[in-house]
Amino acid sequence: MKNILDYETVALVDEDDAIEIIDQTLLPGKTEIIRLHTGKEIWDAIYLLQVRGAPAIGVTAGFGIYLLMKHSEAASFEAFMGEFKEKSDYLNSSRPTAVNLSWALKRMESHVVKYYEDNFAASESSFDETRKQLIEEMRAESERIKAEDVEVCRKIGEYGVELIKDGDGILTHCNAGQLATCKYGTATSPMYLAHQKGYKIRVYCDETRPLLQGARLTAYELHSAGIDTTLLCDNMSASLMKTGAINAIFVGCDRVAANGDAANKIGTSVVATVAKHYGVPFYVCAPTSTIDINTPTGDDINIEQRKPEEVTEMWYKERMAPEGVKVYNPAFDVTDHDLITGIVTEYGVLRAPYDEAIKTLFETSIKK
Ligand code: MRU
Repeated sequence: MKNILDYETVALVDEDDAIEIIDQTLLPGKTEIIRLHTGKEIWDAIYLLQVRGAPAIGVTAGFGIYLLMKHSEAASFEAFMGEFKEKSDYLNSSRPTAVNLSWALKRMESHVVKYYEDNFAASESSFDETRKQLIEEMRAESERIKAEDVEVCRKIGEYGVELIKDGDGILTHCNAGQLATCKYGTATSPMYLAHQKGYKIRVYCDETRPLLQGARLTAYELHSAGIDTTLLCDNMSASLMKTGAINAIFVGCDRVAANGDAANKIGTSVVATVAKHYGVPFYVCAPTSTIDINTPTGDDINIEQRKPEEVTEMWYKERMAPEGVKVYNPAFDVTDHDLITGIVTEYGVLRAPYDEAIKTLFETSIKK
C-alpha cells in the first residue's frame, strides 16, 4: 500500500483544467484523490478543509486563479484584470485567517501586472496573443509557488533540527505537516530531519478539537514515517510537561503579525502559556509567506469563526451537547509573542524582540 507521505497534497493537472488534492476530511480512514475544476469547487474544498494548512491553501489559490483565468476571452488588459480581481476576491473569501491565501493571490496579480508592463504595455499587438502569454506566465508562477514551498519547508527543517537533541520528546498541535504543505511540513520538517539523522525522538500530537487535525493527520503522517508517535487529548499536555517528558514544542502558524504574535489553530495559545510555566521552549515554524508585516499585532488578525455543529455533533454517532446550547468555535487563537521562544523561518530562527527581527528580515532578505 502507498504511504500517505508518497501522495502529493496539491497538484495541478493542467490537461484536465483541474487541481488534484487528497480529500483530507476522509483521512486517515480513506485516501481519496479528488479533482477541483470550478471556482465553487475550489472555494468549497478550502472552506470544508478538504485542503487545509496555510501553505497548502496558498498553493491551491495560486493554481485556482490560474485555472479560472485560463480560458478568459478578455479583449483588453483592463478587462483581463477585472476578471482576475473578481475571481481572486471570490477565492480569497473562502477562509480569512491564513495569510498565505491572500499572499498567493496578490503574488499572482503582481506577477501578471509586472509581466504585462515589462513586455506589452507599449506594444500595439492584438490582446489575443498577449493574453495567451499572460496565462502561460500565471501557470509558471503558480508552479513556482509550489516548488518554493517545498524548498522553504526543507530549510525550516534544517534550521529547526538544530533545536532538537537526540532523545527529545516533542509536542505539536494541529497539523503543520506534509499534508498542510507540499512536502515535509513546517513544524514537522525538523522532526522528519531529526528522525533521518537517527535521533530517537518521541512526538506527542494533540488531537486538536474540534476537527481533529492532530489525531487524523499529524499522528497519521508521523506514525507512517516510522516516528515514535503518541496521541494526546488537548487537555493532557500540561501533565506531560510537568513530568519533563516534553523538551520542545513545535507548531505551525497561519499568520504572524509584525510584532511576532502568531495565529495558529485554536488551543495553541493554551499550550504556549503552559509551556512558559514549565520552562519548555515553544517554537513557531513560519515560512516568510506567513509573516504579515501589514498586520501590526495579533489583535488585528481576523479569526475565523466556524459552525457550532463541528463542536456538538461532527465525529460523534449522535449529538453530544444539548440542543440550543450556545457554542464558541473560533478556528484559531493568537499566541502572544512573549510566549514564543523562536520563530523558525526559511532564513533562520528569529528571536525576540520580534518586531525588530521581522523588520530586519523583510528589509534584508525578502523581495517584495
Ligand atoms: O484549520 P486548518 O486545519 O487549516 O489549520 C491549520 C493550522 O492551524 C496549521 O498549524 C497552520 O495552517 C500551519 S500549516 C503549515
